[in-house]
Amino acid sequence: MRLDRFLAESTGMSRKEATKALHRGDVTLNGEVVKKGVVQVDTASEVMFNGATLKLQGPTYMMMHKPLDCVCSNDDPHHLTIFAYLDVPNPDKLHTVGRLDVDTTGLLLITNDGQWSHRITSPKRKCPKVYRAELADPLQPENVNAFAQGIKLRGEVELTQPAKLEIISEREALVTLHEGRYHQVRRMFAAVGNKVVALHREQVGALQLDPSLAPGEARELTVEEIALF
Ligand code: URA
Repeated sequence: MRLDRFLAESTGMSRKEATKALHRGDVTLNGEVVKKGVVQVDTASEVMFNGATLKLQGPTYMMMHKPLDCVCSNDDPHHLTIFAYLDVPNPDKLHTVGRLDVDTTGLLLITNDGQWSHRITSPKRKCPKVYRAELADPLQPENVNAFAQGIKLRGEVELTQPAKLEIISEREALVTLHEGRYHQVRRMFAAVGNKVVALHREQVGALQLDPSLAPGEARELTVEEIALF
């Protein structure tokens, strides 16, 4: 790979900025200042920028405690995106594994490995996702059966897949879904005459949100966590 591309990809700077940094003499290759971007680097090369060793971003797997009021897209004119919270060199190379609404909090997975995220989001795999919902009105015992049977969402023809509803208290429930339709939890409760006032995702597959992560914080997944999917 060319040195200017390596510099851009490992730091997140543009190719133009990388070229300027090279011309300024800020970059060394195996201990020597190199000013030409065309020079080739390989895995054995040691590239330093202002004294710090650079590495290319390999496969990345993270969990974030998504806070309120931010969106899961890479770019949004009206809201902060979840990538604003991440301290990684190239956030635009990452994507979220599925999406949470702007006003949903909780476990969000982030990666640059498309095959891994497909294994989690593919409808065929039926990967369970567990949400804790707070409701405006008291839950009704018959809601449990309605969720298990499948719900007809407004504007849709097909019933939702069987979902598990566990009533925790008068206005709090856990919902387990095996699919991911648009605003699904909120729309399912709307269909049974209730309203979600807070929604938090606790678990995806066998992976739970790390309780040590405050809203907005993220960490790398462990090898064992990556292998859960
Ligand atoms: N269901 C919703 O309504 N919102 C989410 O963010 C996720 C599931």
